[in-house]
Amino acid sequence: MKILTVIPTYNEIDALPTTMDRLRAAVPESDVLVVDDGSPDGTGELAEEMAAADEQIHVIHRPIKDGLGGAYIAGFKWGLRRDYDVFVELDADGSHQPEQLPDLLAKIDEADLVIGSRWVPGGSVVNWPLRRELISRGGSLYSRTMLGLKVRDITAGFRVFRRSTLEDIDLNSIESVGYGFQVDMTFRVALQGKVITEVPITFVERTLGESKMNSGIVVEAVTNVTKWGLGARARALATKARALTQ
Ligand code: GDD
Ligand code: MN
Repeated sequence: MKILTVIPTYNEIDALPTTMDRLRAAVPESDVLVVDDGSPDGTGELAEEMAAADEQIHVIHRPIKDGLGGAYIAGFKWGLRRDYDVFVELDADGSHQPEQLPDLLAKIDEADLVIGSRWVPGGSVVNWPLRRELISRGGSLYSRTMLGLKVRDITAGFRVFRRSTLEDIDLNSIESVGYGFQVDMTFRVALQGKVITEVPITFVERTLGESKMNSGIVVEAVTNVTKWGLGARARALATKARALTQ
């Protein structure tokens, strides 16, 4: 099993070294791809130094900050052009603990998508502001209801995809640039009837650097979820209407 862990970065110069060291120690067989969006703090240059010293580390640079979703898609496309079997999403800031990645990887044999989940029994958050917890729980509940999904932690960003799961998604059609990207990917995998497994994780709030979360990201996610949910309902109604009139 050839693994590629994709780490998106924007101004993570303080956090990236520790996360990288922990990842390389916890899952040494995984290659790593840093996708940096021209971080003004020099994260991209630091990642290049890491890549020069370790042949399993790679870097791609995008010229401007263009969202978490776009960074992951660029990383997935890079990996799909190569022979990776499994793709991992991991934040740079230490919120996702690399030591828990083996728990997720252990489930990818039986699933198309494995989600490291804060909101299943055994999952938790440490030092997360109440405001963020409410947005996350509320966002997951709203998405679950609108989209008819069973997943508890829909916006989670610690994930493992099988290669075939990504190959079966038209990555060019993903609309969300922010964290709604995670919802978008979950919904697409679920619509294909694929197996999604949640594994409990402990999400630890970053101690270095700053979150890139903002109100625009939340508005984008809520707008898109509403649109997708209403679209799915309209399609279901149209199918029923056709059945009735036949
Ligand atoms: N390249 C790039 N471009 N990276 C980005 C961008 C961007 O525009 N925006 C954020 N990132 C990177 C950060 O540098 C970090 O490595 C990771 O994406 C997550 O960003 P954070 O800003 O730390 O996210 P968070 O802690 O607020 O949000 C977490 O929770 C969300 C809600 O559950 C993450 O796990 C998200 O993935 C998750 O959706
Ligand atoms: Mn974070």
